[in-house]
Amino acid sequence: MGAQQVGVRFSELYGSAPEGVWAAPGRVNLIGEHTDYNDGFVMPFALPHRATAAVSRRTDGVVRLHSADIDAGVTELHLDTLAPGTDATWTAYPAGVIWALREAGHAVTGADIHLSSTVPTGAGLSSSAAVEVVTALALNDLYELAVPGSQLARLCQRAENIYVGAPTGIMDQTASACCEPGHALFLDTRDLSQQQIPFDLAAAGLRLLVVDTQVTHAHSGGEYGKRRAGCERAASLLGVHALRDIPHTDLTPALSRLADEPELTRLVRHVVTENHRVERTVSLLRSGDPRAIGPILTEGHASLRDDFRVSCPELDLTVDTALTAGALGARMTGGGFGGSAIVLTPEPDVPLITKAVEEAFTAAGYKAPRVFEAVPSAGARRLG
Ligand code: GLA
Repeated sequence: MGAQQVGVRFSELYGSAPEGVWAAPGRVNLIGEHTDYNDGFVMPFALPHRATAAVSRRTDGVVRLHSADIDAGVTELHLDTLAPGTDATWTAYPAGVIWALREAGHAVTGADIHLSSTVPTGAGLSSSAAVEVVTALALNDLYELAVPGSQLARLCQRAENIYVGAPTGIMDQTASACCEPGHALFLDTRDLSQQQIPFDLAAAGLRLLVVDTQVTHAHSGGEYGKRRAGCERAASLLGVHALRDIPHTDLTPALSRLADEPELTRLVRHVVTENHRVERTVSLLRSGDPRAIGPILTEGHASLRDDFRVSCPELDLTVDTALTAGALGARMTGGGFGGSAIVLTPEPDVPLITKAVEEAFTAAGYKAPRVFEAVPSAGARRLG
């Protein structure tokens, strides 16, 4: 839905025009998976798919929420009743953001919000972060809170961790808030320092495909939390604050200290090698060689499949089929257990690879995947 349509719908619902309309995108992570809650490196970029919100302030403590994508009418809440764990529906995401803003001392006195999103849900493309960030940015502007983008991302992460109850890292919200068109965001999740890395695949005759396997995932489910807890336990056994503190060159001695813990060994090996893969990717992109990142993406997939164990048969089939059909590299993206894969390919091979993946899914009896090209797009912003 365009900004104008969202504004018109807002007026129909709430009886007056919105004070403004904002957008925040979903993301794809190029490399750096399950590193963000280990204080490590990530490298996402924004999708053109986005959540759009028309918003007006209120002064009476009431929050009214409506989504064009969910057939549930207007939900009316009161600021005083917002509390973690009280809402298991979609409204927990925008309400959680309002809760987090107020918890941080920002004087938000109510809001009317109408949301509409083109980010596929459950596809590992950060549809929830898009809703959180668009809500946060709208209220930041309207209430003149002057919170910078990376801090808004932190508040959105708090909403997701505490209000919604999903123990995720900081990557998705930062990507949605801070990405720039034509760039991937090199983010150090320890100090939130950021560098925009030019990522113009078209100029190099390349394309990046997203294959949404249509296998839905949920991070409030136990597996994500178990990996996170395992990483924290490994860090404490190794005497470091976070696994980020183990340099790639110290991996072998670190693993030998975990010889009795095969599961933790695998988690540590993934996180340490994955941080190194992000650094290698950044340096190849800086030297103008995007083609050369292909094998690094594929290595990342093997590590997520075999060591971190968050892939699934549909993601593995996508990666194997794309590589056989001539892709330069491929891997699952996002948290895993379903969701999407990315495929780096020369532009002329796009139809061939798309067809090969679709046929492989049919032959395996899987639901048809959704394949589209991802172009690094804008981060969150005001539309009108
Ligand atoms: C999900 C989480 C992120 C990150 C990824 C894995 O997308 O929301 O914080 O941990 O999984 O890299």
